[in-house]
Amino acid sequence: MIRTEFLPDPLPPEPLALAADWLAEATRLAAQPNPNAMVLATVGAQDEPSARVVLCKEIVVAPGYVCFYTNYHSRKGRALAANPRAALVMHWDHLHRQVRIEGMVVAAPAAESDTYFASRPWQRRIGAWASEQSEPVASRAVLLDALAATATRFHAPVPGPEDDPEPVPPLVIPRPPHWGGYHLWASAVELWVEGESRIHDRARWERRLVPAAGAFAAGPWHATRLQP
Ligand SMILES: Cc1cc2nc3c(=O)[nH]c(=O)nc-3n(C[C@H](O)[C@H](O)[C@H](O)COP(=O)(O)O)c2cc1C
Repeated sequence: MIRTEFLPDPLPPEPLALAADWLAEATRLAAQPNPNAMVLATVGAQDEPSARVVLCKEIVVAPGYVCFYTNYHSRKGRALAANPRAALVMHWDHLHRQVRIEGMVVAAPAAESDTYFASRPWQRRIGAWASEQSEPVASRAVLLDALAATATRFHAPVPGPEDDPEPVPPLVIPRPPHWGGYHLWASAVELWVEGESRIHDRARWERRLVPAAGAFAAGPWHATRLQP
């Protein structure tokens, strides 16, 4: 028997607080290694769709965006530069829940990316400089050579396991300009709860986004329950 709590009736006026609660519950239960994993779909300059998993760093309920980090020169970064519309999906099988979000993507403010980058383990900070994400590489050995050369450049040991402590004094590794956060501003959110006999519970919220100085002004949410 599937044990689920269906969506409230009437539906809440905005969906992201519930989505954030679901993410928090999945994180607390730790029933999967990356409960904040989400599939991010983009569309490139030639209209070609592509999707990959990234980690959700935060759902900012008000004003309503999802934050993730990546390389701005990667395939997804190039797609977002050409077409800033994107969709993402989170799924927690054991909780019988799915969240779908669609919207507009903007780069996070540089200061926000700097703060997050500085909080990352030193091995990942070196890796962000060493890897030209999504570009070809002749072999894994060539990649590891690039990693070692980058470590030398920052006066660091060659990165090993991530629980190796940071050398003392701490390394000085600035954020690469091509690495940082994105905010996906939600214009549509669907919450899905699995039901018995495929009689699932679904609702979709939509709102208008108007560009406003690197962010968006958002209209009110409109909620609709959907058939499964
Ligand atoms: C569980 C998991 C988490 C991941 N998290 C990220 C992430 O937060 N940022 C990122 O750039 N890539 C992440 N990746 C790697 C991406 O899926 C992808 O391989 C990479 O970003 C290159 O994608 P692109 O060529 O479409 O740009 C993750 C992969 C997995 C399986």
